[in-house]
Amino acid sequence: MSHTYLDRLIAPSLLAADLAKIGEEVARAERAGADWMHLDVMDGHFVDNLTFGPPLIGCLRESTALFLDVHLMISRPDHYLPRFVAAGADLITVHLEASHDVGQTLHQIRQAGRLAGLALNPATPLEAALPFLDQIDLLLCMTVVPGFGGQAFMPEVLAKIQAAAAIRAARGLAYHIEVDGGIDAATAGPCAAAGANVLVAGSATYRAPDMAQAIAQLRKA
Ligand code: DX5
Ligand code: ZN
Repeated sequence: MSHTYLDRLIAPSLLAADLAKIGEEVARAERAGADWMHLDVMDGHFVDNLTFGPPLIGCLRESTALFLDVHLMISRPDHYLPRFVAAGADLITVHLEASHDVGQTLHQIRQAGRLAGLALNPATPLEAALPFLDQIDLLLCMTVVPGFGGQAFMPEVLAKIQAAAAIRAARGLAYHIEVDGGIDAATAGPCAAAGANVLVAGSATYRAPDMAQAIAQLRKA
């Protein structure tokens, strides 16, 4: 099953799950109607936090059919890329601000047969991504400064999302536009109206009293 940017996709972020029972938490998201599973990899260098790496993703690959959307918040995505491919990531998103040859890393992701994502921090202008737009399957517009879940949505990113959608149309491209950080029933609507179709949500899904209802709300927001 493949999705296009015309599909609204809800991607719960594992970061907000009960990490003492990860497998069960992924299954819970799947039952609740999640389209993708968003996995935040942090190295303590690119961002001021540490999470998990390829071994955990490999185990999840064995236990779920969900599409694995892997967000690398690491300084050297090029160096670790083969391990995330081997682990079974379906889509690998790398940051423009990390220390690597961005075009080359994106090329390697596609060469490996996976979808390639490019992430921009809130402060990074869309202009910086222009040379790479024909090499990507997804553009991630961070709506918080990456590193931690539970932060407040930054509405100033909406203009970047609109511009990314306009350039996509003008150039005849088809990348998804993903938003990540502070996405809930209130902020999902403006993001979708601006052109985002992949909505990552940690707190608003895993910490909701009823996850299925929370996902349904994000889907129609
Ligand atoms: C932030 C991560 C996000 C995080 C979002 O650095 O990239 O994926 O889990 O969490 P919420 O939805 O709680 O803002
Ligand atoms: Zn993320």
